[in-house]
Amino acid sequence: MSNFDKNNPFPACLVDRRRLSSSASQKDTQHFSVSLEGSGLTYKCGDSLGVFPTNNPQAVAALLQAAGFSGDESVTIPKDTSAITLRDALTKRVALNGPTYKFVQLLHDRAAAEKEKAQLAAQIAEPDAEKKKAWIEQREYLDLFVEFPSAKITAQELIELQRKLMPRLYSISSAPSKYPNEIHLTVAVVRYETNGRKREGVCSSFLADRAHLNTPEVPVFVAHSHFGLPADDNAPVIMVGPGTGVAPFRSFVMDRATRGAKGRNWLFFGDQRKDHDFLYADEWAEYLKSGALTRLDLAFSRDQAEKVYVQDRMRENAAELWQWISVGAFFYVCGDAKRMAKDVDATLHAIVAEHGKMSTEAAIEWVKQFKKDGRYQRDVY
Ligand SMILES: Cc1cc2nc3c(=O)[nH]c(=O)nc-3n(C[C@H](O)[C@H](O)[C@H](O)COP(=O)(O)OP(=O)(O)OC[C@H]3O[C@@H](n4cnc5c(N)ncnc54)[C@H](O)[C@@H]3O)c2cc1C
Ligand SMILES: NC(=O)c1ccc[n+]([C@@H]2O[C@H](COP(=O)([O-])OP(=O)(O)OC[C@H]3O[C@@H](n4cnc5c(N)ncnc54)[C@H](OP(=O)(O)O)[C@@H]3O)[C@@H](O)[C@H]2O)c1
Repeated sequence: MSNFDKNNPFPACLVDRRRLSSSASQKDTQHFSVSLEGSGLTYKCGDSLGVFPTNNPQAVAALLQAAGFSGDESVTIPKDTSAITLRDALTKRVALNGPTYKFVQLLHDRAAAEKEKAQLAAQIAEPDAEKKKAWIEQREYLDLFVEFPSAKITAQELIELQRKLMPRLYSISSAPSKYPNEIHLTVAVVRYETNGRKREGVCSSFLADRAHLNTPEVPVFVAHSHFGLPADDNAPVIMVGPGTGVAPFRSFVMDRATRGAKGRNWLFFGDQRKDHDFLYADEWAEYLKSGALTRLDLAFSRDQAEKVYVQDRMRENAAELWQWISVGAFFYVCGDAKRMAKDVDATLHAIVAEHGKMSTEAAIEWVKQFKKDGRYQRDVY
């Protein structure tokens, strides 16, 4: 048993960090190893690691300057009693993005310059709901302080309006049978631009750019999950994991290979370009050679004019996929929830209907039962 959990995270060391996507990739996908040494923490395949990030000190400094604070102001975080400095609060406790119209209203009320006040009033009264939403989503607190410099608010008012800085979850990509004292993560570093400013995801950039190696400064906890390998080592598994969705499946295959489990393993992986985004290519090649991985079907979406996705590969292999399912295979999906997991789900339904010779309605019921039986599991975000 470990004393460490979400309420008392373990200050872990990052012990390895390397880029998985090539420097010519349009993405920055990285591999991280986090040491559990001395924590007593344990994990199983399918679990996630919770990471408490801190904000970029440069972003904190820019916000302090734009808002006219020194950073030494004393503030109290809501539902907390002890006072801390504004700089500490902005670094460790609150999110620097996601301002709401409540904040815009406060700026309006405090704006000393008539032009700014009028602009803010017009924005608050914007009749087009889509436009109004897009405007606020394009901005962080910094943008608003820069655009409306005459509006002065207190440090405490700012802290009370900001969202709490939350931990992020990452699917664990190592197997406890091979790495009992280490957890591997496979992370897409979030970088984009809005309102003419470069932005970065708080936690992915914390891991990629700010956390020092071999220094206990990454607070973590293990989030246990129902997502996981079948109890029966002989059961076949089908894994659909494009992009970072491949993370738990590296764990699954590594675990079965390490323990010599006999069940067959079929992975569908996809990403943008084979030469730049084929995550863990060498490991899959080894697993195919050793027989630990039975089949690997690849869908590189941007290597040709037409998009090719994992569900296209499922369709091309529908008869065999149905055959695996018919003899007891478990079906797993991990990765993007918005588009990929929905499309894969629709494709699974179509395959069940066609190859199971069922009506659409019967296929829906069949897949429901497949899920209830724990044989169709998803870890999507
Ligand atoms: C169970 C679970 C498992 C997960 N596993 C993994 C994993 O294995 N690997 C992984 O990489 N992630 C994984 N995630 C996602 C991860 O938790 C974080 O959400 C992700 O890393 C982004 O966090 P961040 O702090 O870097 O970015 P944040 O600071 O949270 O920023 C992300 C936000 O930025 C905005 N944004 C992002 N891109 C754009 C854009 N182009 N234009 C405009 N706005 C944009 C969006 O509002 C988005 O919500 C998982 C999530 C869950 C729930
Ligand atoms: N900063 C960037 O440039 C950048 C780029 C990509 C992703 N991201 C972000 O990084 C995060 C994680 O990315 P990720 O590596 O897990 O995955 P991802 O890059 O979003 O996607 C991985 C693969 O899935 C494909 N895909 C897109 N739509 C699909 C669909 N409906 N069905 C099946 N496959 C589909 C993608 O193709 P296509 O992309 O070619 O359509 C790509 O080949 C996401 O939140 C994403 O928003 C950022």
